Amino acid sequence: MPKSAAAKISPMTEAHIPSVVEIERASNPSPWSENSLRSELQNPQARYFVASTGGQIVGFCGYWRVIDEAHITNVAVAPSSRNQGIGRQLVCAALEDAAAAGLRCATLEVRAGNTPAISLYEKLGFAKCAVRKAYYPSNREDAIVMWLYDLKSH
Ligand SMILES: CC(C)(COP(=O)(O)OP(=O)(O)OC[C@H]1O[C@@H](n2cnc3c(N)ncnc32)[C@H](O)[C@@H]1OP(=O)(O)O)[C@@H](O)C(=O)NCCC(=O)NCCS
Repeated sequence: MPKSAAAKISPMTEAHIPSVVEIERASNPSPWSENSLRSELQNPQARYFVASTGGQIVGFCGYWRVIDEAHITNVAVAPSSRNQGIGRQLVCAALEDAAAAGLRCATLEVRAGNTPAISLYEKLGFAKCAVRKAYYPSNREDAIVMWLYDLKSH
């Protein structure tokens, strides 16, 4: 499939949760549960999006509005749909939503060994700015803290 496969990006609803849980299980060493996703959808500070191609949910992304900061909480693309530009479209949709809401900057944490995600975030203008040592309990992996200081520059 071409690198620039166009996905439809739309707000996540409860109906998307089973597909999103499946993507989480295939993507995240500590996957979010159905209940966690349900409570995220009820969180007034949270915004979640799904990507679909050919009517199938292939990825999701979300962020929290924290004063004037967008905290990216999660992003994942189904393994068979990766490397087609869908992760980029999802994170861009979240950043555009945050900018439209008047937020100023964005931040996230990522596993130090997660080269695909770090590369994606750097392409979107995020810079590595701190390390949280042994942050992830499952394997004591470091977290890299990244910031996009000006949402308008992305
Ligand atoms: C990280 C992830 C969301 C990227 O999604 P994707 O749809 O495959 O990414 P895209 O096709 O939009 O790629 C955008 C950029 O990401 C980077 N990238 C994506 N996959 C990569 C890989 N395997 N190796 C290195 N860089 C990669 C590249 O910089 C790419 O830019 P390019 O197209 O100019 O080369 C996906 O790999 C994933 O779901 N991983 C598991 C979950 C995860 O780690 N989430 C991040 C939690 S912080």
